[in-house]
Amino acid sequence: MSESEDVLRVEHVGKRFGPVTALRDVNLHLRKGEVLGLLGDNGAGKSTLIKIISGFQKPDEGRLFIKGDETELRSVDHARSLGIDCVYQDLALVNQLDVVQNMFLRRERLHSPMPFLARSRMRQETRAALDEIGVNVPRLNVPVARLSGGQRQAIAVARTVHSDAEIILLDEPLAAMGAKEGAMILDLVARLRAEGRVSIVMIAHNYVHVLESCDRVNLIQDGEITFDKPTADTSVEELNEIVVEEYRRARAQATQ
Ligand SMILES: Nc1ncnc2c1ncn2[C@@H]1O[C@H](COP(=O)(O)OP(=O)(O)O)[C@@H](O)[C@H]1O
Ligand SMILES: [Mg+2]
Repeated sequence: MSESEDVLRVEHVGKRFGPVTALRDVNLHLRKGEVLGLLGDNGAGKSTLIKIISGFQKPDEGRLFIKGDETELRSVDHARSLGIDCVYQDLALVNQLDVVQNMFLRRERLHSPMPFLARSRMRQETRAALDEIGVNVPRLNVPVARLSGGQRQAIAVARTVHSDAEIILLDEPLAAMGAKEGAMILDLVARLRAEGRVSIVMIAHNYVHVLESCDRVNLIQDGEITFDKPTADTSVEELNEIVVEEYRRARAQATQ
């Protein structure tokens, strides 16, 4: 497949936080309609990479291409205006606001031409978006601080999927969820994959989830992408072997 079909390309991206090198020389690409699974140990740089692609952080070096155009993202809003939306690991919900307010945070619907917030329309859309995911949030007018981790995560995912985003970044969407809620999110990803309208990068811990839900898998180790294969061409065993090898190397270094 040609480069022109990439909705997103990351070339030679590096990022440091003081003495810590979070990303070294990251190259990544995402094709239209593709679901890319991103695996990696804690601290490998997964969230940093996602934050750079979503405009939340700036890379120290490297280039970003969105639908073929080289782009320097100025902010999350800038990335969103280009069709990139992210569900952050730390969620970015506002605790004191209720479900509907969070759902439309910075994307409030207005009654045109009058600049009033369309409360009832936002409420209906929130309900529909949550129903679509299948996660039960009984009351929409409670501060999200009072909801469970899984419910909060579902709201964050629903918000992003419900937006007009063409590129969706999911940072460990199943992390705070029980098995049932997690299965619903995976079902949603499967539906989006079948529709082929949006392209998705999903960070996950569970190899089986990635092999089942994604078209391709990348492994990030110590700030670099070290593995890139279609899920059809790899296996839990192969992924395990690479990670076990990494542990061996790390242990050998630690005991030197
Ligand atoms: N804002 C930050 N300030 C300082 N260090 C950070 C910051 N964000 C991430 N790091 C460091 O960068 C490395 C990669 O972090 P992260 O991208 O969150 O990894 P992952 O999501 O793969 O667990 C870690 O060593 C982490 O401590
Ligand atoms: Mg992370």
